[in-house]
Amino acid sequence: MTAPPAATPAAPALVLDGVAKSFGPVVALRSGSLTLRPGSIHALIGENGAGKSTLVKIIAGLYQRDAGTFEYLGEPVDFGTTAESKGAGIAVIYQEPTLFPDLSVTENVFMGRQPTLSLGRIDKRAMRAEVVALFEQLGVHVDPDRPTRGLSIADQQLVEIAKAMSLDAKVLVMDEPTAALSGVEVERLFGVARALRDEGRALLFISHRFDEVFDLCDTVTVMRDGEYISTSAIADTTVDRLVREMVGRDVTDLFPKTVAPVGDVLLEVEGLTRTGVFHDVSFEVRAGEIVALAGLVGAGRSEIARAAFGVDPYDAGTVTVAGRRLAGGDPAAAMRQGLALIPEDRRRQGAVLDSGIARNVTLTIRDRLTRAGVLTSAAENASAREWAARFEVRAPSLDTLAGTLSGGNQQKVVIAKWLATEPRVLIVDEPTRGIDVGTKSEVHRLLSDLAGQGLAILMISSELPEVLGMADRVLVVHEGRITANLTREEATPEAVMYAATHDVEVAR
Ligand SMILES: Nc1ncnc2c1ncn2[C@@H]1O[C@H](COP(=O)(O)OP(=O)(O)OP(=O)(O)O)[C@@H](O)[C@H]1O
Ligand SMILES: [Mg+2]
Repeated sequence: MTAPPAATPAAPALVLDGVAKSFGPVVALRSGSLTLRPGSIHALIGENGAGKSTLVKIIAGLYQRDAGTFEYLGEPVDFGTTAESKGAGIAVIYQEPTLFPDLSVTENVFMGRQPTLSLGRIDKRAMRAEVVALFEQLGVHVDPDRPTRGLSIADQQLVEIAKAMSLDAKVLVMDEPTAALSGVEVERLFGVARALRDEGRALLFISHRFDEVFDLCDTVTVMRDGEYISTSAIADTTVDRLVREMVGRDVTDLFPKTVAPVGDVLLEVEGLTRTGVFHDVSFEVRAGEIVALAGLVGAGRSEIARAAFGVDPYDAGTVTVAGRRLAGGDPAAAMRQGLALIPEDRRRQGAVLDSGIARNVTLTIRDRLTRAGVLTSAAENASAREWAARFEVRAPSLDTLAGTLSGGNQQKVVIAKWLATEPRVLIVDEPTRGIDVGTKSEVHRLLSDLAGQGLAILMISSELPEVLGMADRVLVVHEGRITANLTREEATPEAVMYAATHDVEVAR
């Protein structure tokens, strides 16, 4: 890396001040301010919809600001395109993966800037070798030659990270890079981030997880409602203070868990096997229970859930809901029997991005809202309004397109959509991924309330505090097998982590 001419070590790499951005009537950013310095990892935090990703997209040249100033390496800049910001040395990992599904992993890493040999031929060997080296450093086990279609979100995110690292950037922006990663992968990413910091690069890190912010970052900026609130040294602040600044009030109880009376078995999974993915998975969930499926990313938890719901096939075993065996491979039939699955990849599997909030929330209950063959928008709106209010979905109206909502608000819409089906058994995959601290507590309260009303809930979560805080029982999955079945009392962090990393025989 050559030293930037205008910047001395103490000089900021990037300064945004009073930056504003509107989309028609929607003010996404009122006044965003941020100063990034070389050799620093700077956290940007704020509630869902606070304007963090909008600020990132302005830095990236994806959006152009309406007002405010933007200086990079001491010079005022206006990036008209993402290629310009990239060319200037700014690498961005977006909140949603942006890979091309049909191109190979290697081609995605080098998208738009392939190294060439003489005569303009693309140097495929050099590309592949660099990807292999980056993956080695990141501890990624992905075939560089396969297409990115079908990769788990965690693997897609790791490919995005490799892509950003391969740019040799002066500024690296990471918008919720850890949301889809497990503990081990997060640790690896943090190792890489620290190494980049020590080389004198400036890093921006967006996360809703305070433990990560305090572990990794040295400085933190808080945003609220599109505005800059504060910047502090991590050493001089506390979680409570940051939460107050983000939310404007105290959030006292993140895990409002109540223990409900336990009733009949509502979900029974017996000997479920999908060759090469998961094996002989058996468990029960009773009315009133929240059972967590814990384990590392890639252990097969989402795959088990998807097979049980019927979106993926399985080779052996049975799934029984409220005493009736499901045919398998038929999610519509599973829904009629009272099973709902809130998927982990809510952007691609969950929300219809070019439909409004009301349409999305009522998508699964159209039959019920239809009177004499007519679905009125009044009925749609009434139902959607109730759910949107319950989840504090932040949007100008119920017609707002789901695709324009902030990441967290999209998730709330998807959760509402599935709860509107009034299921008896709810499988929820990473219920609070990407959801801010205030809403997280609301989602937890809602899950607890639903269990209290007699629902059986199977919760997949990679966040250990969430597993320990919310579950009545914890099933741990390791390499496609259940390796522990722990009561709330037995489920210590050590016990869960041990079972998540070892093949232990489990008695049911
Ligand atoms: N392209 C767009 N069109 C219309 N509104 C938008 C667009 N992009 C963002 N917004 C709105 O701007 C606001 C800020 O969104 P942004 O994505 O920046 O939030 P965020 O802080 O990143 O939230 P999260 O933590 O949920 O990711 C939201 O109200 C969002 O709905
Ligand atoms: Mg965002």
